[in-house]
Amino acid sequence: MSNFWNKFNKPILALAPMAGISDSAFRQLCYSFGADVVYTEMTSIDGLYYKGKTTLELLDFNHKKEGKVVLQLFGKRPELIKKAVERVEEAGFDGIDINFGCPAKKVVAHEGGITLLRDLNLAQEIVHATVESASIPVSIKTRISINKKDQTGKITVFDFLDKIKDYNVSALMLHGRTYEQGFSGSIDFDSIKLAKEKFKGVVLGNGGLNTPEDIKEMLDKTGVDGVGLARGLYGKPWLFKQINDYLQNGKYSEFDLEQIKKVALKHAKLLSKSKNDKAFLEIRKHLCWYLKGFPGASDWRAKLVRVENLSDVKKTLKQLS
Ligand SMILES: Cc1cc2nc3c(=O)[nH]c(=O)nc-3n(C[C@H](O)[C@H](O)[C@H](O)COP(=O)(O)O)c2cc1C
Repeated sequence: MSNFWNKFNKPILALAPMAGISDSAFRQLCYSFGADVVYTEMTSIDGLYYKGKTTLELLDFNHKKEGKVVLQLFGKRPELIKKAVERVEEAGFDGIDINFGCPAKKVVAHEGGITLLRDLNLAQEIVHATVESASIPVSIKTRISINKKDQTGKITVFDFLDKIKDYNVSALMLHGRTYEQGFSGSIDFDSIKLAKEKFKGVVLGNGGLNTPEDIKEMLDKTGVDGVGLARGLYGKPWLFKQINDYLQNGKYSEFDLEQIKKVALKHAKLLSKSKNDKAFLEIRKHLCWYLKGFPGASDWRAKLVRVENLSDVKKTLKQLS
């Protein structure tokens, strides 16, 4: 199997999977600003198996304009994986990731995502079934640890890695927080460093990466092969360019309002192309993020959350100065 993960220059810059955010339009923008690899939103194994309409929509992508694209699976029924993988491969994705990190209520309620680490035999079966079924590289994403249900200790990423050490897993994206931390609190650089030393594939550090300086800190402290960016990209897909500038030249520049308006409009156009009417509900949050921090942003927000179509977006952006 040719493994694209081993062909990148390092550090590898990835768009991390984000439900509701890392859709085709956002992936195209991130790729245009220098992302090496982009992850889709998490996609249900059950939905793929049973051909659910909204799940199948997640298979639509624009390969030429997104670069290397990894589809992320979530679910906990190994018997459905073969069929799900078949559909992902037919759609043309470059890689498959498995979600072992999500703490979202609706995922945890069904004992998926991060809670799969509480049943390492099942987690192992899921990895096994995926690796056996796939002819494209398989990666995993998880967190540092989760407490046992009876609170008598915790299960760590190292317990998990040990359990799957015999399988051909090409990459690990490791969110440097525990399940209990949720989405805030400090990043455990020491554990990410240790994971890089122990895991034989590519390791991407994730969590709290909001500026080029944060990325440098992650690389320096852990020695990882690359990083996965998530909320730091809200309203700022050009962060990839800033990171590359910073790592190459030691400096980077901020985008001014005119540049930001241009990117925001491009985002709206890409969304309307890929999602038609639904696009304008989704573009509203992105527009607010793009303009966050500018003087007058809160007045603008009132207008931006009401856009109904592309011409509203154009008109509203034109008024902002
Ligand atoms: C809105 C949102 C949606 C997310 N969706 C997913 C997902 O589908 N799959 C996944 O593995 N992680 C998901 N995550 C977690 C991120 O990929 C990332 O691990 C987390 O946000 C930590 O990085 P950050 O501190 O830089 O945001 C999501 C996070 C956010 C904020």
